[in-house]
Formats: sequence, structure tokens, C-alpha cells
Amino acid sequence: MNIIAEGHSKIIYATDNPDRILVYFKDTATAFHNIKRAKIVGKGLYVNKISAIIFKHLTDAGIKNHYLNLVDERSMMCLKTDVLPLRVIVRNSAAGSLSSRFGIKEGSSLSEPIYEMNYKSEQLDNPFMNEHIAVALGVVTHKEMQTISQIAHNANEVLTTVFNKCGISLIDFKLEFGRMPDGTLIIADEISPDTCRLIDKNTGIHLDKDRFRHDMGDIISAYNTVCSRLYDE
Ligand code: TMP
Ligand code: ASP
Repeated sequence: MNIIAEGHSKIIYATDNPDRILVYFKDTATAFHNIKRAKIVGKGLYVNKISAIIFKHLTDAGIKNHYLNLVDERSMMCLKTDVLPLRVIVRNSAAGSLSSRFGIKEGSSLSEPIYEMNYKSEQLDNPFMNEHIAVALGVVTHKEMQTISQIAHNANEVLTTVFNKCGISLIDFKLEFGRMPDGTLIIADEISPDTCRLIDKNTGIHLDKDRFRHDMGDIISAYNTVCSRLYDE
């Protein structure tokens, strides 16, 4: 199969159907703009399974996304979209770069969710972006931005509820969006412990990529916990 794109943690393949892509999840983890890099055996399997079930929850709630079906333990079939060069970060409590940029203690509550955007360019360090910049640079229209904000809000409601039922707090997460040939915007990429911060409500421990970022150990067992709770729920 022809490779359309290859990133740090995924390979996107063309398929026989021009409207579909195959997303293959690797075992590579990167952080801090690729300064930290490692192979975590088995991570791809969990990211594939977890993303699949999360996308299914979104679909059930009427939130359009690119997921179609699992193909094997490391890959899923998805709709081919034109992925926008912007990322939306949704935050329910303070962590990560919000805490470091604004000097807020990790775990501090927020009076309302925060929706942030950045421009997807590793070369430029994924710079901050807002609606004005995104529209002026021709990335989206104002109307599309409204749609993206609404989808991000709805996805946060659904995912917060899903994780709550599993005894997990959804601290923050990242979304990417793809444009379909008819112009419809849908959620693309992955949603997994690589792209979310997830904390066990009982123990307070991270069940996400912060385990890798900050050398907390037990990465695979954390991903396994998320996976089994989502599938048992
Ligand atoms: P941040 O605190 O580093 O800005 O990250 C916020 C959320 O976005 C966190 O759940 C991790 C996710 N994220 C990605 O998925 N990819 C990225 O490249 C970055 C920087 C964050
Ligand atoms: N792409 C991000 C980085 O290189 C990975 C992460 O920290 O989630 O910092």
C-alpha cells in the first residue's frame, strides 16, 4: 500500500477506495517537540483500540468523525479528509502548558472550559493561533470556526461523560479536524491517552502520555487500564 503520510506515531496509507485511508499506529512516542523519543512496545495497539471506542462514542452522540472500523490490532479504516493545519486544545482543569505558561498549579480548577488553538507546524513550534489568524491565513472561514468550536464543545461534553463513567477525569485533550470533499468538517486524527490527559479519580495517577513525558513509569499498564475500563463500561 502507498504511504500518504508518516508522522512520529502513525502511518497513513492509501487504500483501494479513494475516499478511505488506513491509519496504522506505531509504538513510537515523542514529546517536547521530538526532543524526547522512545519505542514503547504495544502502545500502538492500545492507541488504536482506545481511539476506535472513543470515536464510536462520538458517532453515537451524532458527532461526525473520520473513524469507520477497526482493520486489525494496529490499524483502523477512516474517511479521507483534508486535515486542517490547526489543532484545538480543550481544557477542563489546569495542566501542562497552561500551567507553565500562566503559572497555575497543575490540577487547579477552571471556572469554565478553555478552548485554545495552535497552528500545526513542528518547524515553527506549533505557534498560538486564534480565529482571526486562522481566517486571515485562509485556514478556515469564520463560519467553519463556529462549527469547529461547537464540535469541540460537544465532544468535550460527550468525552467527559464517557470518562467519568470509567472513573477517569478528562483534564484536557487535543482535536484535529478534516474537511470532507463536500466541505463538511469532521474530527480526524486520533483521540487517545497520547492526545488527552486522563487522571484516575481514585488514585489521582496519570493514565496518559504524561507518564512518558515526565518519566512516571508504567506507560503500557496505564493505557491498558484506560482501554479495559472503556471496553467494560
Ligand atoms: P499541552 O498542555 O502540552 O498544551 O497539551 C494539552 C493537551 O493536548 C494534552 O492533552 C496533550 C495534547 N497534545 C497533543 O495531543 N499533541 C501535542 O503536540 C501537544 C503539544 C499536546
Ligand atoms: N508533539 C508534541 C511535542 O513534540 C508531543 C507531546 O508532547 O504531546 O511536544
